[in-house]
Amino acid sequence: MPAPIGNDIEKAAALLIQGKLVAIPTETVYGLAANGLDNLAVSCIFEAKNRPAFDPLILHVESIEQAKNLVKHWSEMADRLAKAFWPGPLTLVLPKASHVPNLVTSGQSTVAIRMPNNAQTLALLRLLPFPLAAPSANPFGYVSPTKAQHVLDQLGNRIHYIVDGGDCNIGIESTILAVNNNDVSVLRLGGLALSEIEAVIGFRAKEILTTHSNPMAPGQLDHHYSPKCLLIPMELEISAANNVNEGLRPMGFMWYSRQSYHQVAKKFEDHRYIGAKHYFLSENANDKEAASRLFDLLRQFDKDGLSLVYFEWATEFGLGRAINDRLNRASAKKNQT
Ligand code: TXA
Ligand code: MG
Repeated sequence: MPAPIGNDIEKAAALLIQGKLVAIPTETVYGLAANGLDNLAVSCIFEAKNRPAFDPLILHVESIEQAKNLVKHWSEMADRLAKAFWPGPLTLVLPKASHVPNLVTSGQSTVAIRMPNNAQTLALLRLLPFPLAAPSANPFGYVSPTKAQHVLDQLGNRIHYIVDGGDCNIGIESTILAVNNNDVSVLRLGGLALSEIEAVIGFRAKEILTTHSNPMAPGQLDHHYSPKCLLIPMELEISAANNVNEGLRPMGFMWYSRQSYHQVAKKFEDHRYIGAKHYFLSENANDKEAASRLFDLLRQFDKDGLSLVYFEWATEFGLGRAINDRLNRASAKKNQT
């Protein structure tokens, strides 16, 4: 039986206390939540998502006090960042307290923590005597969910309840920072732009980002976020335009902005593209609007039965960097690791 979708926070809390799985809305993406201090409940997350155990989970909290209880040492820098950005799309990786299960942290000595900015999820957390471990609520490797329906479509039969928070307004996962005393490194680009972080800490954070599996942020494989359809950057289409025969494959184009489409619209009078669908991440190259629409559009390609989509990169500015990171992974060949 598929999980019911609703707003019954007390029912969600009761299920979580029993060790069951509940999908929760956040401002970034929907999470697949369980009791973060219960090994058995956490193991059900890995099973439901088909997620490898080397990919650690984020613990979600409702207050800074609760976060402090999960770490060995709460530094001044962690405090400054949490006070500036929580609740919000920022995850802090800090030295873990001994009672945090190794399954949550994949055996690392650090734990990832964030306070999500969603009223229902914060209310739910306040009803619980434990933090919620929650990865994005999608099968491992697929696109993250930004609507309750996305969760129902893919994990509905594996979980017990879905809290409906409507559309996620940021739409891209949290930015992840490792904080070691005063040292700050960026492990994942996400819904909080680095310029905002740098304005608070007063220096440029070191970026430890690779397109390959990253030992510092182990789950970040370079073929994450992939829809079934093939995604190819538009500049590759342009260079291959004369020798690739697209045939009659159902195909599409995803534009960063409607403007850029209009600038090159003439090119699409080419007979090979007749019938191609055009999608727009934003009207006016707005990074926030584009981020909030990205994952829903990637899913739409599969729903529309497309086998190939050429996409335009975002402008490398603000959330555009995180959007390009996701596009890079979504378009990476699936046989790479
Ligand atoms: O916005 C988000 O962060 C969403 C919502 C649901 O909160 N969650 C999310 O979780 O994106 P997930 O599991 O899809 O990604 C968590 C990533 C891991 O893949 C890993 O890269 C990093 O967080 N991570 C977790 N614990 C870590 C640790 N101890 N050290 C380094 N990286 C860690
Ligand atoms: Mg994920």
